[in-house]
Amino acid sequence: MGYSRCVRCDSILLLFVTLHSIQGDVSYSIPEEMKRGSVIGNIAKDFGLDAGRLSTRRARIDTEDNNVQYCSVNLNTGDLIVQERIDREGLCGKKASCVLKQELVLENPLELHRFNIRVQDINDNSPQFKEDSLKLEIHESAVKGARFPLDEAHDEDIGENSVQGYILQQNDHFTLNIKTKGNGRKYGELILDKELDREDKNEIMLLLSAFDGGSPQRSGTVVIHVTVLDANDNEPVFSQNMYKASLPENSPLDTIVLTVSATDADEGVNGDVTYAFDHVSDKKQIFSLDSKTGEVKVVGPIDYEKESSYEMQISAKDGLGLASYVSLIIEIVDVNDNAPVVNLKSLTNPIPENVSPGTEVGIINVQDRDSENNKQVRCSIQQGVPFKLVPSIKNYYSLVTTEQPDRELVSDYNITITATDEGSPPLSSSKTVQLSVADINDNPPVFEEQSYSAYVTENNKPGSTLCSVTARDPDWRQNGTVIYSLLPGEVNGAPVSSYLSVNGDTGVIHAVRSFDYEQFRSFKVHVMARDNGSPPLSSNVTVSVFISDVNDNSPQILYPTPEGNSFMTELVPKAAHGGSLVSKVIAVDADSGQNAWLSYQIVKSTDPGLFTIGLHSGEIRTQRDISESDNMKQNLIVSVKDNGQPPLSATCAMYLLISDNLAEVPELKDISYEEKNSKLTSYLIIALVSVSTIFLTFIIIVMGVRFCRRRKPRLLFDGAVAIPSAYLPPNYADVDGTGTLRSTYNYDAYLTTGSRTSDFKFVSSYNDNTLPADETLKKSPTDFADMFGDSDGSPEVGTYSMFSSNFEFCKEDIVTFFSIYFLPSIFYV
Ligand SMILES: *[C@@H]1O[C@H](CO)[C@@H](O)[C@H](O)[C@H]1NC(C)=O
Ligand SMILES: *[C@@H]1O[C@H](CO)[C@@H](O)[C@H](O)[C@H]1NC(C)=O
Ligand SMILES: *[C@@H]1O[C@H](CO)[C@@H](O)[C@H](O)[C@H]1NC(C)=O
Repeated sequence: MGYSRCVRCDSILLLFVTLHSIQGDVSYSIPEEMKRGSVIGNIAKDFGLDAGRLSTRRARIDTEDNNVQYCSVNLNTGDLIVQERIDREGLCGKKASCVLKQELVLENPLELHRFNIRVQDINDNSPQFKEDSLKLEIHESAVKGARFPLDEAHDEDIGENSVQGYILQQNDHFTLNIKTKGNGRKYGELILDKELDREDKNEIMLLLSAFDGGSPQRSGTVVIHVTVLDANDNEPVFSQNMYKASLPENSPLDTIVLTVSATDADEGVNGDVTYAFDHVSDKKQIFSLDSKTGEVKVVGPIDYEKESSYEMQISAKDGLGLASYVSLIIEIVDVNDNAPVVNLKSLTNPIPENVSPGTEVGIINVQDRDSENNKQVRCSIQQGVPFKLVPSIKNYYSLVTTEQPDRELVSDYNITITATDEGSPPLSSSKTVQLSVADINDNPPVFEEQSYSAYVTENNKPGSTLCSVTARDPDWRQNGTVIYSLLPGEVNGAPVSSYLSVNGDTGVIHAVRSFDYEQFRSFKVHVMARDNGSPPLSSNVTVSVFISDVNDNSPQILYPTPEGNSFMTELVPKAAHGGSLVSKVIAVDADSGQNAWLSYQIVKSTDPGLFTIGLHSGEIRTQRDISESDNMKQNLIVSVKDNGQPPLSATCAMYLLISDNLAEVPELKDISYEEKNSKLTSYLIIALVSVSTIFLTFIIIVMGVRFCRRRKPRLLFDGAVAIPSAYLPPNYADVDGTGTLRSTYNYDAYLTTGSRTSDFKFVSSYNDNTLPADETLKKSPTDFADMFGDSDGSPEVGTYSMFSSNFEFCKEDIVTFFSIYFLPSIFYV
């Protein structure tokens, strides 16, 4: 150790020594890499040693600090020989001088000689790059002049043999600039001479050579692999300037409208285009845009009526946010998806039934939200209603009556208005308008029958129901409420209300009093039906009341007088043959028909075989010839019976005197008069005259038959019997007590005649024959004669044939009849 420390000190010293005594030191200079065995020099000689003794002195070469024995000494010749490869770069690296310090050691005595071997560099190394290829990434956005330092190449050699420069293979983009570092080492810099475009060329291969200054020159190359990095220098570009699409409305969800596409020349994220709607808020709900594929889809309801077109901005962005924009216009095509809507704008409801045709009762508006043809609407109204639609201003129609409505026929209308558009297929809708017709009092009550007849039997109970009248009024409520009442009038001089009453609500007619057929057989009243409208309407109807007969009157015997005194005596000529008419019982019955059909019977007689009486005629005839033996005085009791149920009857006594002359009858003076009535004499005379006049009358009647007229006769004549008016049944006189027969009554009187066919009838009324009874009584004989004269020639005189089976009786007045026959009797007396 001490030795080695000493050597080191020596080395430092030696450096100075060598520097200062460089001439005196032995130093060899050899190039590196000499072959083994090459002789560097003769060391024996150089140190002045005996070459022969080297061997004995065991000469050898030592190194100070290196175990490697680079050289050795030839002990025979003293030559210094290269023993090991001497690599300067290995020994000294980049040191500028490379000195191997060697020692020659001799023994016996120990001698030590130092010497240096200076190893000279030779160009045995080429410049070398660290790697075979150099990777370089340059953004395409790099500007011209940009510098990109390159790794330097290394050369083990030094000095001139080290790297002296670089050469870049010719290329389009780069030039090379060689720079020298502080330590003198050189490196290259690529300078961008022309901008790169990745999209044009994304990789560039450059060949860089480094060369040294040795001789021969050596060089090393490296491939520079330049990758042009993308700069996001391209914005996405849409395939069209503007996208347009048309889409039918109501397109289902997920319908693809179109696909936008944009391309970006950049790559990687720079070329990744994402699509999006720009500034879309609500429209987003209707369309979606696939950010990757650019598909625009329907995601919401498409309603032309809401929005007929959409305009959207679509952006396409690449990864680093370069964007471009395009407009997308979607026109929505209308589809006839909206039915027309009928709106009732106004309606007069109810309408009075008297509105005239052409009256506007409502306004209708029709709307269709579609467009074009789909919006054209036709409006119609159903058939069979008296209304029509009149187009008015656009989309408006007036509902107008076509005829006057009649509530009583149709009171409610359901008017269906149908609107149809002209789409294909057309859509339609309808609306029903309910319209009522308000009542107007336009219908008078109408009786169900043209006239009514009520039949009532006489002697009815007051208050009994006679009949009912019904009138209908189709109007509404009070306009159709019928109230019945009697129209004021008179029946037989008394107000109708004293006969009948009508129930105002039901129309039931009641008798107010009891009717008497014998007083009047029928009468008419007018019943009015009035509705409750304002003004009221009314109508009236005639109600005829027919009173039917009840057998409530007994036959009345007019002749002979029922008093039955024997003063009323008929003379029977003694010469009378069998079958001669001797007298006649005259009876009347105030009833009618069967109730007045009288039959006569002799219930008792003095000589039952002598006289018979006609069953219905009341004529008393002799049954056989009168003989002398017959009793002069014959009395008959005659019963007169009507045919009613039950029958009523009356009886009378008939006194007959068989004599030719009244004066012959002595008993006549004996006839006792129960009554002192002065008229009795007259009655007897009347009877006589009557019989004698029968024949005369018969002739007159026969003559007058042809001239019978139903004209106003003054008087009627018949010579057969004269019956005083006083014996007229009370019914025949007027009830008002004036003695005047009222003109208004017609009635039939069945007088006693021989048969039904020969009944004479009072066929006409007493209308104009009113004759006061007292006046009748005042008639003078001259009047009477006049009357006879009249009757002879005048056609006005009714003809009367009491005994003929076909007598006719025209225009007679029973009062007059009997009065006339009574008077002559008086005068006769
Ligand atoms: C009108 O329509 C209503 C309700 O739909 C119905 O009750 C009525 O009977 C209809 N009237 C007519 C006249 O059809
Ligand atoms: C009855 O008719 C009148 C018009 O004549 C009318 O004003 C009134 O409203 C009608 N009454 C009813 C209940 O319909
Ligand atoms: C009764 O009706 C008739 C026609 O029907 C008419 O001429 C007459 O004037 C009416 N009488 C009254 C009182 O209304």
